[in-house]
Amino acid sequence: MKHVPVLLRETIDALQLKHGSNIIDCTLGDGGHTEAILKLTIPNGRVLGIDADPESLARAKQFLYSEAERVIFVRENFEHLAKIVSEEKFAPVNGILMDLGWSSPQFEERKRGFSFQNPDEPLDMRYAPHNDMKKASELLADSTEEELEHIFRIYGEERLSKEIAVAIKAYEQGINNTSDLVNIVLAVYRKKLKTDKEVPWVGGLHPATKVFQALRIAVNDEFGVIDRALPQAIEILAPGGRLAVISFHSGEDRIVKHYFKSLDKKTIRIITKKPIVASEQEAKENTRARSAKLRVVEKIY
Ligand SMILES: C[S@@+](CC[C@H](N)C(=O)[O-])C[C@H]1O[C@@H](n2cnc3c(N)ncnc32)[C@H](O)[C@@H]1O
Repeated sequence: MKHVPVLLRETIDALQLKHGSNIIDCTLGDGGHTEAILKLTIPNGRVLGIDADPESLARAKQFLYSEAERVIFVRENFEHLAKIVSEEKFAPVNGILMDLGWSSPQFEERKRGFSFQNPDEPLDMRYAPHNDMKKASELLADSTEEELEHIFRIYGEERLSKEIAVAIKAYEQGINNTSDLVNIVLAVYRKKLKTDKEVPWVGGLHPATKVFQALRIAVNDEFGVIDRALPQAIEILAPGGRLAVISFHSGEDRIVKHYFKSLDKKTIRIITKKPIVASEQEAKENTRARSAKLRVVEKIY
């Protein structure tokens, strides 16, 4: 399954691409945004394409092969943006894109336990599976009840955070796969709602939705990465260059919004007073687009 790039036209417009622009795609994924960027920067515009996931990078290389000489592929965490740019001597930087989170093939096909809908997958959830970060199963085993409650509440806005954390810690067999975790969450909800329905849906959501989202964010320290990467992005942008960030979680969007607002108005112009969201048509065609928010700033000097 190919990832469908979200807010594609809006992002491309926001970056104000010109022939010869040098753009950094911090989250290359399947290369959908980069493909459009390459088209609009012909003949000599370049893209520095970063992704932490070796499988994403391999797929993007294949997909973009006809323009590969204009792309530098880097397998890294974009929290090291400044170092990557300096090592690759990529300058001037005319635009930067961060399209946060996961891509569809990661979610659906890579068997890393991102989705509660895929039974019996190992609970890994790392974007970069070969690094020394903890897998989700290790995080569950090593965290205290209070730490788990915090993760579910802050990153998932899960209303049964406490009850779920207690149930996880009481589960002595060890939680290794997606089904183990889903079953624990379902049992907590059944007890709370006093129902014996197999899946007690909550406001149209499967009860495990928020727990899985929260764990993924914690495993990859997603909020911390954005926090650390945004100042580097502003620093390396050339005058007139733009930074576009697409987020899918209210907590993420808050970090971006507050950071943009905190910047000196003599150096930065906020282009999106309100975030750009998907059109009705896009939201209808792509469920992932429904929660997307695009914020853009321009560096003045
Ligand atoms: C939403 S997808 C990007 C999709 C892409 N724009 C496209 O059109 O195909 C996000 C990608 O960012 C990568 N990613 C997430 N966090 C990352 C990080 N901290 N450093 C590097 N890559 C990351 C994921 O592995 C995933 O491939």
